[in-house]
Amino acid sequence: MAGLSKAAPHLYENPYRADFPAMAATMNGRTLVYLDSGSSAQKPQVVLDAMLSAMKDNYANIHRGLYNYSQVKTEQFEAVRRKVAAFIGAPSENSIVFTGNSTEAINLVSQTFGRKYLKSGDEIVISGMEHHANIVPWQILRDQIGIALKIIPVLDDGSLDYEAFKKLLSPRTKLVAVTQVSNAIGVVNSIKKIKEIMAPLGSEIRLLVDGSQGVVHKAVNLAEMDPDFYVFTGHKLYGPTGIGILYGREDLLNAMPPYQGGGDMIERVTFEETTYKRAPARFEAGTPPIAEVIALGAAIDYLSAIGMDTVEARERELLAYATARLQAIPGLRIYGTSPDKAGIISFTLEGIHSSDIAMILDRMGIAVRTGHHCCMPLMQRFGIEGTVRASMGLYTTAGDIDSLCEGLDKVRELMA
Ligand code: ALA
Repeated sequence: MAGLSKAAPHLYENPYRADFPAMAATMNGRTLVYLDSGSSAQKPQVVLDAMLSAMKDNYANIHRGLYNYSQVKTEQFEAVRRKVAAFIGAPSENSIVFTGNSTEAINLVSQTFGRKYLKSGDEIVISGMEHHANIVPWQILRDQIGIALKIIPVLDDGSLDYEAFKKLLSPRTKLVAVTQVSNAIGVVNSIKKIKEIMAPLGSEIRLLVDGSQGVVHKAVNLAEMDPDFYVFTGHKLYGPTGIGILYGREDLLNAMPPYQGGGDMIERVTFEETTYKRAPARFEAGTPPIAEVIALGAAIDYLSAIGMDTVEARERELLAYATARLQAIPGLRIYGTSPDKAGIISFTLEGIHSSDIAMILDRMGIAVRTGHHCCMPLMQRFGIEGTVRASMGLYTTAGDIDSLCEGLDKVRELMA
């Protein structure tokens, strides 16, 4: 693709961009070029409207009132649980737990499933490309109960070493916890291959998939993927902050002890003893993020109307264009070069610190993330401190990629 200077005309147009008020904003006097959706996505107007309406119209607490407002709000809230289940192909809404974010969902599994089912000497396998949110909760569990953590190595192209993974599994392995898509380098892992490798050890080894970056880039069908747990967060899916999802196999969820105690998760409380509701209620102590859940529902409706296959197809084209353009820049090295990738490109520019690059780009109105991307072990694997990361969203255009490349030319000029 060398010599490619412009993308196909349809990639300069974007039918969704006008739905996002933030895209009309300026940064440092320039039209905003927002290439940090991997960190948090901008919100379409329908999500902003839903958030406001959830707090303005028929507002009341849920699950607690026999009056009209409370019942209307409860129905709006529970409808989103059904919507989330349908969006990710989960068998039942009872397998959908609302959490604060992906991090909380993983901590919940670690402290409930982990503390109940794992014992000293057992092993958890994670990968070398995990976000800290899928490392630290397991380290905390390790230090609490004496389990061991095994790490699937990452190959030079950023993909997982599946052969090494095979050798890491043993009768002591109780859980494999991996990301679907690397937030730091955009590599897509083959959950199918991971399941196949795990299969000979039987169904007692559980699989947790961190879908935080996966669910935003392509259609997810859990009936096909068949994990025991799947987690993601609302704010990367064009929804609000403060709302995450834990999908868990229903039988597993109902066998797990509660995570936090409080209102709405109990059947009966006496000073001597408390009995708990079944999942998902047993994991949702206290007043939940009502408006955030309802607005997440609006984000899912918005994406469903577009179609996740359309989202994926457009992003693939943009990724191919961006990769070709960036690769042509002298001294630029992309991390994560394996063929299956989502719309995330991580790179370094020879001799220029990533923070300097980000600061100069910022002056040109271009927002990218720099640093270790909450993946310090992955950066150590590549022998670097960090990268510059451009991550795409529904509103990204080829024009944004062109601006990034022009910005990087300027950085090279200034820092030469
Ligand atoms: N996990 C988010 C990121 O990758 C914050 O940037």
